[in-house]
Amino acid sequence: MSTENVRRTPREQWRSQTSFVMATIGAAVGLGNIWRFSYVAGENGGATFLVVYLGAILLIGLPLALAEAAIGRHSQYDAVASYRVIARERIWIGAGALGVIGSYLIMCFYLVIAGWALKYFFGAVSGILWRLAARQYGHYFDAFVASPWEPVAWQLAMVILVVAVVARGVRGGIERMARAVTPVLAVIVAGLAIYGVAHQGAGRGLSFLFAPDWTRLLGADLYLAALGQAFFSLSLGMGLYVTYGSYLGREHRLPRAVAAVAAGDTLMSIVAGMAVFPAVFAFGLDPASGPSLVFVTLPQVFLEMPAGRAFGALFFFLLAAAALSASISGIEIPTAYAMRRLSWSRQRSAIVVGATVFVGGVPASLGFGLWADVQWEHRGILESMDYIVSNVILPLGGMLTALFVGWRWAKPALRETSLEGTIMGVAWIWSLRAVVPLVILAIFMRAVGLI
Ligand code: TRP
Repeated sequence: MSTENVRRTPREQWRSQTSFVMATIGAAVGLGNIWRFSYVAGENGGATFLVVYLGAILLIGLPLALAEAAIGRHSQYDAVASYRVIARERIWIGAGALGVIGSYLIMCFYLVIAGWALKYFFGAVSGILWRLAARQYGHYFDAFVASPWEPVAWQLAMVILVVAVVARGVRGGIERMARAVTPVLAVIVAGLAIYGVAHQGAGRGLSFLFAPDWTRLLGADLYLAALGQAFFSLSLGMGLYVTYGSYLGREHRLPRAVAAVAAGDTLMSIVAGMAVFPAVFAFGLDPASGPSLVFVTLPQVFLEMPAGRAFGALFFFLLAAAALSASISGIEIPTAYAMRRLSWSRQRSAIVVGATVFVGGVPASLGFGLWADVQWEHRGILESMDYIVSNVILPLGGMLTALFVGWRWAKPALRETSLEGTIMGVAWIWSLRAVVPLVILAIFMRAVGLI
């Protein structure tokens, strides 16, 4: 271990455990719960997907999130150095490095979609969005994303907002933002769900989301999709819990806080699904229409529902604000790394990370227009980036973390979480040793057709 790069500077800290929970929920809840959950669930059979997804959260998400948080809180460092101070072998540092890389890559394309959400929010408020006829939304969306500069301008606006928050620091920026925004998001999602469920003809949408069709459990894609969604939505395997845990004082109980985060994030997705699917079905639209579901399908629904314009504006506000608060964590993870590694100030690190993330996202945006021909197995640039990160890089990083904590660092991890000598502790360590790695391995093998 080369200690010279791992310098102790006074570390910023959350004000309280509630702040940690709020900030981490704010980080986890994002486009993943609304945009990605609805279209992935829509494509994979709704309720059947939900069952497998919940299984993935319980069996893999919770144990891994706790493992990551224990590492971060124990070492009080960024996502890479945290592994370095407790593990000698380089391979484990790979878990931290994969996390920072994964988080960086997600940020690149994530901010593109965050920019779309911002545009639709302004469109909904200004009324531009409601001047179209229902059948024009597809064309409107296609023309917007195909423009070489307009989505890039919205993406840049989003980057600037995010950098401005991260530059203000853990307490002054991230924590303040999360405490203000996270509860508002929860209220808006609940309101939209009530609105969706109360709508005539909601029944079919609800049974799509809640009544599983067990015959679909045989599909291989379903498991990979559910695993990828669990990693993406909980921000697993990308240093979030390590980084945010490193700002948590030692007096707090980790397991409860992490469980609250996982529960909060999962609930958000389900409730968002209750807002989206009833409406989609009531209007006879296709739940499996892919990434454009919330941008093309939902505006048509809002256009025709009572008070739909106000709820539409609220929906796109939710989407943009959730994307913003998730992006904050995505910038914070590499920023914390750069601050320590390069000894840069927080401001400088945040600005440089923001600028490179912006540049890295431009190809993803152009993939919908100028570079639409760049395809890989029918996926464009953005979808390919998402696929590789969510379904490969993150699960791989997660597997390394699980093996590391399970086999190399079990005792200190149990102490760190105060789970020594408890049944919960035994279950946790064995799920890290065996369940998490084997399930991820099996899903990989199934996806490439080996089993
Ligand atoms: N959890 C976020 C969501 O559900 C997505 C996400 C995961 C993310 N890791 C990230 C976003 C890193 C930005 C940066 O939307």
